[in-house]
Amino acid sequence: ATIHDQKPQRGEGGELHQTASGSTPVLTTAQGGPVSDDQNSLKIGARGPTVLEDFHFREKIFHFDHERIPERVVHARGYGAHGYFETYESLAKYTRADIFQRAGEKTPAFVRFSTVAGNKGSADLARDVRGFAVKLYTREGNWDIVGNNIPVFFIQDAIKFPDLIHAAKAEPNSDFPQAQTAHDNFWDFISLTPESMHMIMWVMSDRAIPRSLRFMEGFGVHTFRLLNAKDESTFVKFLWKPKLGLQSVAWNEAVKINGADPDFHRRDLWDAIHAGNFPEWELQLQLFDQAFADSFDFDILDPTKLIPEEVLPPIAVGRLVLDRMPDNFFAETEQVAFMTQNVPPGVDFSNDPLLQGRNFSYLDTQIKRLGSTNFTHIPINAPKCPFHNFQQDGHMAMRNPVGRANYQPNSWDEGPRESPQKGFRSFAEVEAGPKARLRSETFADHYSQARQFYISQDPVEQGHIAAALTFELSKVQTPVIRERVVSHLLNIDDGLAGKVADALGLKAMPKPADAAVPTRGDLPASDALSILKN
Ligand code: HEM
Repeated sequence: ATIHDQKPQRGEGGELHQTASGSTPVLTTAQGGPVSDDQNSLKIGARGPTVLEDFHFREKIFHFDHERIPERVVHARGYGAHGYFETYESLAKYTRADIFQRAGEKTPAFVRFSTVAGNKGSADLARDVRGFAVKLYTREGNWDIVGNNIPVFFIQDAIKFPDLIHAAKAEPNSDFPQAQTAHDNFWDFISLTPESMHMIMWVMSDRAIPRSLRFMEGFGVHTFRLLNAKDESTFVKFLWKPKLGLQSVAWNEAVKINGADPDFHRRDLWDAIHAGNFPEWELQLQLFDQAFADSFDFDILDPTKLIPEEVLPPIAVGRLVLDRMPDNFFAETEQVAFMTQNVPPGVDFSNDPLLQGRNFSYLDTQIKRLGSTNFTHIPINAPKCPFHNFQQDGHMAMRNPVGRANYQPNSWDEGPRESPQKGFRSFAEVEAGPKARLRSETFADHYSQARQFYISQDPVEQGHIAAALTFELSKVQTPVIRERVVSHLLNIDDGLAGKVADALGLKAMPKPADAAVPTRGDLPASDALSILKN
């Protein structure tokens, strides 16, 4: 922007007025009415009351009063950028998704990075999971890969999500502590939820305090399916690998940076993109079939497990480049609505119970957050391909069916029609079983992969995990909660449990937590992998 050097004129009360002249547009109300004076409300006499008739004043204040919308119930603090996804080679063998048919094809993209637990005004370097949500505006509609920078999750069933988030965010009576501070509720919930142990190892590791959003991996977490033109299914995991590599800061650095510059991550992304240093990620896929899935001790539907990259090397299928900041933070980054249910034909879900729940939750929360079922009319959420349907009306409707037909089938040669060939088709998996609230016994091993992750870390990184656990648990006031966490650590690594117990000054070592499946010597040494260290 250029500096406006017009000399302001003084009004009768000494206030400064800048008036329109030359190419400067005239200030108007939202209704387009020109405004004569934006410094003084309409009064009876210079020192008299303001009159209700002042429509300009009323409109301006009313609009301001309504500026805030609810922040996201999770992932409230985030920062986004535009860019594109470029396909390397055709993947027609695996999927009929249009985005993967042609080498060199570029698809517009919008990405929002976020922290999970902190509110909208919290600090960037909190110890937390980072959201990594990608919206791909494909020729077959929007495809959202709503992932995190950690490949597994805390819980196995979406019904536990409200409990997890309640325990992680502020307590209802005190409204503190915030995101990065350990507290009894969070560790109480975790200690009673052993399935969270693998994720806890990642969250206590350096992964949870990235140096920059540009140095972070992303993961779709769940197992999805790809379906080819014959509707043949291949399981898939989505991974984003940063071209710059993976880097974190140490906890004492994070604490200092948060104090000096709580906007450190967003500033870094803003500066990099404005300087033309466009961050880039490669999309990699882990592809496997049912027989391969069946060969694991764990269940590929369990979101607390990952498939080690050494066991199943990912293949690179494209790159994501972020090259433009939004023009307006609120319009784009705040109003963008990602949802796991947005998949193009050729991509399908698995029965992962966390994914199934997410497919319900995002649409629901966004209707509330953005205030209307018509949130897809907001430009950042609208598809960039042609789209037609008979949805109509509702709050803030920007588009309605054109012409007479707003239903189908109809006898008028109007309106869109369904397409069995082009349309989305689900994989025809055969399902049967008792209707009951169940958890599969194949979900029962909560410690093996936690241990694999821990032993994959080098001694310095292992020291950071022990220090993080010690720091967090030292904030927990209730001894039994500390002991319960240590009892889980005993099922992961004796050395780690010992270090934490000593540092906390536990009088006696607790017994290892009950494990539903054996936790020692159950994996061949070759499987004790250095997971995800590349
Ligand atoms: C928001 C990831 C589990 C409900 C988000 C966002 C990400 C994300 C990245 C931020 C999107 C944005 O930038 O706007 C994940 C991952 C999960 C997970 C990777 C597990 C693997 C769940 C579950 C639920 C859930 C189980 C509920 C059943 C929500 C809600 C929002 C959200 C309600 C706020 C959305 C909005 O207001 O726009 N999640 N999430 N998430 N997530 Fe999840």
